[in-house]
Amino acid sequence: MMIRVEHLSKSYASSFSKTDALRDISFAVGCGEILGILGPNGAGKSTLIKILATILNRDTGQIYMADCTTDDAIAYRQKFTVALQNSSLELWLSVEDNLKIYGKFFGLQGTHLSKQIDEVIGLFGLKEFRRKRASELSGGYRKRLQLARSFLVDTPVMMLDEPTAGLDPLAKNQVIRLLKDRAAQGKSIIFTTQVIAEAEALCNRVLILNQGRKIAEGNVEDIKALFSAGQRMEFKFEEVTESIVREASSICQLTGKAAPEQQGSSLLFDLTVVDEADRQTMSKLLESLCPISVSTKDLSLEEIFIELLKEGVV
Ligand SMILES: Nc1ncnc2c1ncn2[C@@H]1O[C@H](COP(=O)(O)OP(=O)(O)O)[C@@H](O)[C@H]1O
Ligand SMILES: [Mg+2]
Repeated sequence: MMIRVEHLSKSYASSFSKTDALRDISFAVGCGEILGILGPNGAGKSTLIKILATILNRDTGQIYMADCTTDDAIAYRQKFTVALQNSSLELWLSVEDNLKIYGKFFGLQGTHLSKQIDEVIGLFGLKEFRRKRASELSGGYRKRLQLARSFLVDTPVMMLDEPTAGLDPLAKNQVIRLLKDRAAQGKSIIFTTQVIAEAEALCNRVLILNQGRKIAEGNVEDIKALFSAGQRMEFKFEEVTESIVREASSICQLTGKAAPEQQGSSLLFDLTVVDEADRQTMSKLLESLCPISVSTKDLSLEEIFIELLKEGVV
């Protein structure tokens, strides 16, 4: 394993209150693996990235990165690059000089450094801003510069806190493509996002955080399978009229099922075809509602995410 995190906890204390930002978090990331950390605002994502990047101290727990621990601070810090959520650019320096000092920090120099700088400037569309100060860039372009820095050096681990937030759609796709390339080269990548579709597109595995707790972890399919028992049936109609809703609700009530959820011209029922009682309910519904079509509706990761939060796992 390239990264191992064991029983990590962190709380922020002030004289008024104490926030448990991370509570007993453990996970591991292998070579070539992309771990997506999902969670709403305040879940603890940035705290986790900052602790992994040795910007913040943890309260308890252990972290290993390529056999180093944070106790070997110098060796440990050469194993990763990090793009923090809030800009850590040298605002008074030019785009080029920001890249130069970052590269030098990692020991790049001479023509190799210049070549790398040219490459990331190209990859992130920064050519015309090369000699501009970072302070003169728009928010989106500052983000690009921050990300460009991460791609400048060749470390076994890349960590990115909400890398796609604030980027235009083209730049977003570019970042996703580049991260996939890097993973294919064997790098371990940890990135955080609130955009579930991104995690679905990019990750081998996801870890869902809420209020500092790990509420689920696994590959996207595993997490979906957790909820396969709650697979839903979608009944489509020309139009969902009041009488359809009334009829559907009364059948559900009679058979002890939850009332359906309306989505546009569809009604969604919590019914599975494997359950005998559910099949009977379904045939009653089919008979009295006469839908245009019926299909099973796989839950999207987005819906699962919301379900997990609703379930009170938190
Ligand atoms: N410097 C800080 N001082 C006090 N509390 C903080 C600080 N940074 C974050 N927190 C709190 O810790 C929790 C996790 O925050 P954060 O890691 O930024 O979450 P996320 O990145 O998932 O939005 C939140 O409740 C937040 O208010
Ligand atoms: Mg954050």
